[in-house]
Amino acid sequence: VVLGVDLGTSAVKVSAINKRGEVVAQASESYDLQQSHPGYSEQNPEDWVTQTTKAIRELLKQSEITAAQIEGLSYSGQMHGLVLLDEKNEVLRPAMLWNDTRTTKQCQEITDKIGDKFVDITGNRPLEGFTLPKLLWVKENEPDIWQQAKTFLLPKDYLRYRMTGNLAMDESDATGTVLLDIKSGQWSKELCDELGISLSMCPPLIESIEYAGNISDEYQELSGLSTDIKVFGGAADNAAGAVGAGILSSDKAMVSIGTSGVVLKYENDTQKEYRGVVQYERHAFPKKFYSMGVTLAAGFSLSWFKKTFAPDESFNDVVASAGKSSIGANGLLFTPYIVGERAPYADVNIRGSFIGIDGGHQRYDFVRAVLEGIIFSFEDLIKLYQQNGADFDTIVSIGGGAKSPLWLQIQANIFNCKVVSLENEQGPGMGAAMIAATGLGWFTTLTDCAQSFVHYGKAYYPVADQAEKYQKIYKLYQQVYAQTKPITA
Ligand code: XUL
Repeated sequence: VVLGVDLGTSAVKVSAINKRGEVVAQASESYDLQQSHPGYSEQNPEDWVTQTTKAIRELLKQSEITAAQIEGLSYSGQMHGLVLLDEKNEVLRPAMLWNDTRTTKQCQEITDKIGDKFVDITGNRPLEGFTLPKLLWVKENEPDIWQQAKTFLLPKDYLRYRMTGNLAMDESDATGTVLLDIKSGQWSKELCDELGISLSMCPPLIESIEYAGNISDEYQELSGLSTDIKVFGGAADNAAGAVGAGILSSDKAMVSIGTSGVVLKYENDTQKEYRGVVQYERHAFPKKFYSMGVTLAAGFSLSWFKKTFAPDESFNDVVASAGKSSIGANGLLFTPYIVGERAPYADVNIRGSFIGIDGGHQRYDFVRAVLEGIIFSFEDLIKLYQQNGADFDTIVSIGGGAKSPLWLQIQANIFNCKVVSLENEQGPGMGAAMIAATGLGWFTTLTDCAQSFVHYGKAYYPVADQAEKYQKIYKLYQQVYAQTKPITA
């Protein structure tokens, strides 16, 4: 058995997976998000350790699995979060998370200093969510803490450190710091020098499937896990999600709806010139890459709508009610920019809209418009990929969007592409387990592992006249960003 630890933004989920790729036990624990000022989003790294340990203990207690049966463990982690450590590797301040957007000024400073070279080196633009601007924020605003800072880690790397005693960061997550030279897979000395960050703060790099140590004596005592368990690097949640969805070749892309939404594409190399409009990251698959565009409020748009207008109904009922509306929500259009938008606009100030409200509209039309608006925001990215010569013929849909047949069909129609969901989808935790399984040598490569672990469910095909209608509505959707920008500028 292997354990996949999925350290998310609201909870950690631990899954025990056997050699056939079946989930044999699972446990989850949640933790708080502190949002003390607008734009701030922080967590206490100790909570990740405590809650992961609790989930592991729960898993061992509730299932037939014994600690001795667990051979390996790896991670999927929420990306970009800054964990700062002092010389004793003690945490210096709460972690600043991926959805913390206080760093607009630092992003501008990076652009002013480095210019276009930044995209050439990192494959990305400096955006608020990423780790580097957070480092510069602490440097500027908390000089006392900065002085004591000796190392930085990302969330799951801190958890790994506490479980093994070893400091490391895997390359897939490291790209998301935007301090890595994406082509060489090494820390960029040039960026460190120009931005006044000591190279020695950057942790040792490992590959996702690389061995990172065994469970330490200390963590054995805490968790009940055996010190024989081998721990492997793990990956950024989007990379791990891609592994779990079998996105290991260029014939498939992935869309994922969680709080944020992601459109992700496998890349063989770093030759594509997206110029940072979408993110470029190293994959969990050694020496391979992926690109992705993030919609900041995907599932969040829907949960905001439900909380505000249908608090007493279940999610499933709310989503299913969209079936009572029709294509284009009877003329109602929604843009999901309710907390700003990352791709393609990189605009934290833009806000969402409902356009075309009619006296006859019902609540289900609004739900339909939300479901469609989220997918239109993905279509912006699918179009960008198609313009750059994308060669996928299948889109694997995971997360919230894959739970509703209605929403899956809307995706197929808007993307005008075959959409499949996964049988028994487990999210990035499955990718984490696959990384451990491959690291242990159960399989030679992640692709071999995917062949036996990843199973696709029903396929949804575009219906020609519906796809055509959606393309017309999408053209209108595309105009809304520029037209509404002045309202929030
Ligand atoms: C990706 C991003 C989010 C986080 C969520 O760049 O910011 O998808 O990975 O954990």
